Amino acid sequence: MAVTTQQLIQYKQQGRSIVTLTAWDYAIAQLLDLAGVDMILVGDSLAMVALGYETTLPITLEEMIHHAKAVRRGVKQALVVCDLPFLSYQESPQQAMRSAGRILKETGVQAVKLEGGYPAIAQTVSYLVEAGIPVLGHVGLTPQSVHKLGYRKQGKTSEEGERIFQEAIALEAAGAFAIVLEHIPAELALRITEKLSIPTIGIGAGVHCDGQVLVTADMLGMTLKQPPFAKAYVNLQEIITQAVQNYSNEVKERKFP
Ligand code: KIV
Ligand code: NA
Repeated sequence: MAVTTQQLIQYKQQGRSIVTLTAWDYAIAQLLDLAGVDMILVGDSLAMVALGYETTLPITLEEMIHHAKAVRRGVKQALVVCDLPFLSYQESPQQAMRSAGRILKETGVQAVKLEGGYPAIAQTVSYLVEAGIPVLGHVGLTPQSVHKLGYRKQGKTSEEGERIFQEAIALEAAGAFAIVLEHIPAELALRITEKLSIPTIGIGAGVHCDGQVLVTADMLGMTLKQPPFAKAYVNLQEIITQAVQNYSNEVKERKFP
């Protein structure tokens, strides 16, 4: 049985941590799904990881749809969520509905994620949820606002922490099925996680969240620049470079084929 949004809420109640990773194409999605990941996010970080952009800002709805289709074809079990890209939802709830609707209808993913909280985004979330579109929230460091916030840790002052806390509450009230907490203090993530009935999925937000997410390219050691909270479980860059050099040597020395 494929993972559902309701199941993730049950996992929180059972204290079973939710394993989430990002994917950008068929091959990587298939591997993650076979390894038993609960939720696969077609994150707009693919703008950097797969397309070579400097930030997530330039990626278009068309490009996200293109990648989400490929990911979806690779997944049988995990819940698949696709990011709404920058400026495909901020204008109005109606704009968000058109973008989210295209993503669900054209790609077959089950849910969308958007960044931000109170008040405008929470209204948009409730508009989408009422129409039957499950929404994953995202507060704290929101990379689509990089020119406003930078990539620094959010919620370090009590005022900022309180704002993020209220945003999370507003997103739950709006009907989000879970919320990503990015780069905030662990104590703040704990406060939010204890307060909400829906799961929190942390990235650089400490150990107390109901689940964790990493950008898969960071986790596999495929990226040159990594955020401070990333952990590489393997160095694929080294492994791939070595394999290419071995192949190259064998071709030059006419050992292969
Ligand atoms: O785009 C992305 O990869 C994300 C995760 C880091 C949560 O939004
Ligand atoms: Na994202």
